Amino acid sequence: MSLQASTEMLQAAREGKYAVAAFNVHTLEMLQAVAEAAAETQSPLIIQSTVGTVNHLGPDYIAAAAAVAAKRTGTPVALHLDHCTDYDLIVRCIRAGYTSVMIDASMYPFEENVARTAQVMAAAAAAGVNVEAELGKVGGVEDDIVVDERDALLADPDECAAFMARTGVHTLAPAIGTAHGIYKGTPNIDFARIARIADLVSAPLVLHGGSGIPADQVRQAVSLGMAKMNIATELRIAFSDAIKQVFGRLPDENDPRKYMVPAKEAVKRLAMEKMELCGCVGKA
Ligand code: 13P
Ligand code: ZN
Ligand code: NA
Repeated sequence: MSLQASTEMLQAAREGKYAVAAFNVHTLEMLQAVAEAAAETQSPLIIQSTVGTVNHLGPDYIAAAAAVAAKRTGTPVALHLDHCTDYDLIVRCIRAGYTSVMIDASMYPFEENVARTAQVMAAAAAAGVNVEAELGKVGGVEDDIVVDERDALLADPDECAAFMARTGVHTLAPAIGTAHGIYKGTPNIDFARIARIADLVSAPLVLHGGSGIPADQVRQAVSLGMAKMNIATELRIAFSDAIKQVFGRLPDENDPRKYMVPAKEAVKRLAMEKMELCGCVGKA
């Protein structure tokens, strides 16, 4: 199969009350690992890259590798640009082959978020690309977008409904109390707010800050309408810890395959666990 827009797989997930796991990858091995996890579990898959990783690897390299992944898995695979504030970079990624993009204008007032999202919708329409937008502010750190956790504002359900009517965006990421990175305690998720938003918005909802959310809370959020779960930090930790372990044992190792293979295996195992947790196993 070729890369496809994430719209259909996410609508099926919302209807079926499961979520598609969306993984932020930073290296070829991480991309291969999540693709192998999708193939082995027959799961739909969203491969994501942040703006930092797009700049690190190049959108053309990432799109080419993701296209190979889609061919190999035989399951639906989308390539998504995560948390992008820059219209020009969004257009570049669409041209390179991305099938889904996030315009993150959540730091602007409502009207400007609407305008910036609508501009991206227009650019994405011709290419059939899925567009995700954010309302409210997800706490924590994602690349160079920093939001003070204390000031993180949750999405207002009525504003979510108005935003959907104004923009027609395909998928919506409402801030509901999760944060990027690993939580200090347990996350304080506003489940009643998810339910109210899901009542007013029929589009698939996106759960950001997936790393570190306890399994029962993930299941509850998914049952209420969260149809995509973003996972970044836990994957990075699994990858890096596996490499550190190799160098702990073999400080003079200099064959990249000797540390990249265990790192890739660690990411693959974790990806399969997250797919199980999201309920998307066998939904390809
Ligand atoms: P985590 O780093 O908490 O997994 O968050 C991922 C995310 O929301 C990426 O957009
Ligand atoms: Zn995020
Ligand atoms: Na998190």
